Amino acid sequence: MSQSRFAAIILAAGEGTRLNSARPKVLHEIAGQSMIRHVIDVLRPFDPAVTIVVVGRDMDSVAQAVAPVPSVVQSPPRGTGDAVRAASPELAARLAQGGISDVVVLFGDTPLLRAETIAELLDTRRRAPQAAVAVAGMRPADPAPYGRLVLGDDGALLRIVEARDASVEERAIGLCNGGIMALDSRHAFDLVDRIGNDNAKREFYLTDIVAIARAQGLSCRVAELPAAELLGVNTRAELAAAEGLMQERLRRRAMEAGATLIAPETVFLASDTELGRDVVIEPNVVFGPGVRIADNVRIRSFSHLEGADIASGAIVGPFARLRPGAVLEADVHVGNFVEVKASRLGAGVKASHLSYLGDSDIGAGTNIGAGTITCNYDGFSKFRTVIGERAFIGSNTALVAPVTVGDGAYVATGSVVTSDVPADALTIARARQVDKPGRAAALRAQLKGKKG
Ligand code: UD1
Ligand code: MG
Repeated sequence: MSQSRFAAIILAAGEGTRLNSARPKVLHEIAGQSMIRHVIDVLRPFDPAVTIVVVGRDMDSVAQAVAPVPSVVQSPPRGTGDAVRAASPELAARLAQGGISDVVVLFGDTPLLRAETIAELLDTRRRAPQAAVAVAGMRPADPAPYGRLVLGDDGALLRIVEARDASVEERAIGLCNGGIMALDSRHAFDLVDRIGNDNAKREFYLTDIVAIARAQGLSCRVAELPAAELLGVNTRAELAAAEGLMQERLRRRAMEAGATLIAPETVFLASDTELGRDVVIEPNVVFGPGVRIADNVRIRSFSHLEGADIASGAIVGPFARLRPGAVLEADVHVGNFVEVKASRLGAGVKASHLSYLGDSDIGAGTNIGAGTITCNYDGFSKFRTVIGERAFIGSNTALVAPVTVGDGAYVATGSVVTSDVPADALTIARARQVDKPGRAAALRAQLKGKKG
């Protein structure tokens, strides 16, 4: 992408009051990943010289979530201009070293932004003769809450006026401030230092930088960019809308990569879901973070997967649950009401019905009967179950971990296995059946007499 490098400042110190949440706004998730993480990820292809996140006081959780990306604290939050200024001490030394052409300011609550859009903003600023500031312009369906971009007759950007400070004529402008900006690094902090707070909210508005630059004889430009990507999440309704837009994008990407989604609108993907070619996802499947699926896998309806690695030829579901650490090797079948957690199922393993396989290692070709449970937890610690290759675990077996079942062993139905099973052994670990001829009839006669 762009040749010269930039410094990125991501603003995330706002209180996000309208979400009505105990959690900082930017930690709310879209497609299984926090909004701030989406913003950090979109910068990755540019390899920024430095990225700094501006957080508010009591936002250690945000600082932790973005680490190792450094953060600075803005306290109290006195506006977007003040937030950029809060990053300046951290950035000054790095800028002085040279090699940084732009300071790009992003918001932590715009998770839909794409790298191509940031590139367009940078190109707009750098186009000769270079401008001091390039602002992302957009034309949203409802411009009401946004700052408006005031252009001169020649199309140059004169100033930005916030909605609550705008005159009636200015409110009629449809071109709005999308929030992100690229600033010439040579002027950025000098201009930011000149921002005052003489406005309706007594805040230091970053948007004032445009008029300030103009007054210094510097030029400012607008890059008109897609409004859908600049959607800022301020309310729960906007969070849901952003989720919907992100899901559409992820489904389209999965289909372009060669996966069949029979009813795409019913499949929920995480931002890092990887689907191979000729994967078929049946309706109503949910992916949490960390799922990787190789080619030719079928995920049947109503399955829920997170942190799972699935090799080619596997069939999962319907109604299966794969939890973090589930590794399914080639051609594994995991059927209805089977839960797999932190377990490796070797090639060709079949666990077709009603089982819990947790903290286990199951060798290739083994058959897990209906109702098999690995009893991995004694209320204090977790233990592993190891099953060899080509073993047969009869229905309704409880494997009390830690326990090992050898290759080729055959465990009889209904067994409670508490000690290791040797390879190729037939193990029956249940009470022997006792038949008492005629006793049922006698019992019935006796009970009937009593009722008499
Ligand atoms: C801002 C713009 C507005 C634009 C809109 C686009 C200003 C003054 N206004 O308004 O022109 O149309 O975004 O969505 O810039 N933040 C801080 N510290 C603060 C205040 C805010 O870090 O003191 C952060 C917030 O966490 C957020 C971002 O800056 O990520 C934007 O703040 P927000 O309050 O959402 O600004 P808007 O009112 O939406
Ligand atoms: Mg906002």
